[in-house]
Amino acid sequence: MIRDLIIKNRSYRRFHQEVAVGMDTLRELIDLARLSASGANMQPLRYILSCDPEKNAVIFPFLGWAAYLKDWPGPDEGERPSAYVVMLEDTKIGHPMRCDHGIAAQSILLGATERGLGGCMIGSVDRKELRKALKIPERYEILIVLALGEPAQAVVIESVGADGDIKYWRDSEGVHHVPKRSLDEIIIG
Ligand SMILES: Cc1cc2nc3c(=O)[nH]c(=O)nc-3n(C[C@H](O)[C@H](O)[C@H](O)COP(=O)(O)O)c2cc1C
Repeated sequence: MIRDLIIKNRSYRRFHQEVAVGMDTLRELIDLARLSASGANMQPLRYILSCDPEKNAVIFPFLGWAAYLKDWPGPDEGERPSAYVVMLEDTKIGHPMRCDHGIAAQSILLGATERGLGGCMIGSVDRKELRKALKIPERYEILIVLALGEPAQAVVIESVGADGDIKYWRDSEGVHHVPKRSLDEIIIG
């Protein structure tokens, strides 16, 4: 089952924007992050949640989408995320390992996938402008943003070909293809 969930948990970038993701759902997802591993158990992560159209519209302009899809600037109105999680680190607590946010993000996205939702981790964030727009105090460093919603696109996994190209692509039907390296390539010893 965990394999099925992980396969289903792709990066989705187009959503049924009209399908709301409620604050209760967001809080349940953050609870999965709360229960996840943390270096030295410091638990420095903090979250800003957004699921109303006005706040979503404030966050969207500061996100970068699918850099390999050169002719796609990101989801159009109607296909944008219904919710966001802005993941922050409380710099007063510190960061012994700097990987808590990846673990937390995966917990949140697996929980979303289990609920029929989907999302995308967004590292390409105009942090300076997002900080201003959301009035985030300097104490909190913006790590990544998770975009969430009900997926409106098909995503399939491919094998990396002989040319070694790892760039994802979209076909003429709008299906998103994601090449993954083989087990033999990644297990080196
Ligand atoms: C740390 C991290 C940052 C990412 N940042 C972005 C981003 O800024 N914009 C985007 O569209 N996708 C982003 N992604 C999604 C990756 O492009 C995606 O994981 C990759 O293409 C593989 O697809 P998959 O998640 O379906 O396996 C990010 C993923 C990770 C793990």
